[in-house]
Amino acid sequence: MKNVILIGFMGVGKGSVAREVIKNSSYMAIDTDDLIESMENRKIKSIFEDEGEAYFRKLEKNVAKWLESSVKNTLISTGGGFYKQTNLKNVGIIVLLDSPFDEIIKRIKAHPNAAKKLKKRPLLADLKKAKKLYDERRPEYLKLADIVIDVTKKSADECSKELLKKVKKHG
Ligand code: S3P
Repeated sequence: MKNVILIGFMGVGKGSVAREVIKNSSYMAIDTDDLIESMENRKIKSIFEDEGEAYFRKLEKNVAKWLESSVKNTLISTGGGFYKQTNLKNVGIIVLLDSPFDEIIKRIKAHPNAAKKLKKRPLLADLKKAKKLYDERRPEYLKLADIVIDVTKKSADECSKELLKKVKKHG
């Protein structure tokens, strides 16, 4: 079983889909933001505030190297900027969760914990800037992905089933 790497914009549902995939399969799962928070013993928001974004990206690089050398049979959910790591193709099959920007924001706002979800993501604080980032990244996400799943108006369970089907077919 190859690793599966979930990429996509903040709030698109990588965490929720990962949780469903582990329910419906024998994959183990890890999350790059969770790993970084454990390594640093502080939240992503604090890392951005205390050290700046460049420091955070260095931590992501260390995680990417470790994934390549040491992780197998695992579903890896990533932060929205993790796709920039240049060794991802060596880590596993890359699956993009895709949705229009407005749908992603609608999805976050509909969540019972919406305020918390927005607050913990420094790059979503300004929606105009976030939209610009989305527009820059989307073509890059699409270029990198081996598999694309349009998650718009689908449940995490539906997305997880589609993912497992497409990964199986991809081999
Ligand atoms: C980021 C996305 C976040 C987190 C950090 C930076 C990004 O993860 O890694 O705030 O650059 O898009 P989520 O995609 O889980 O929100």
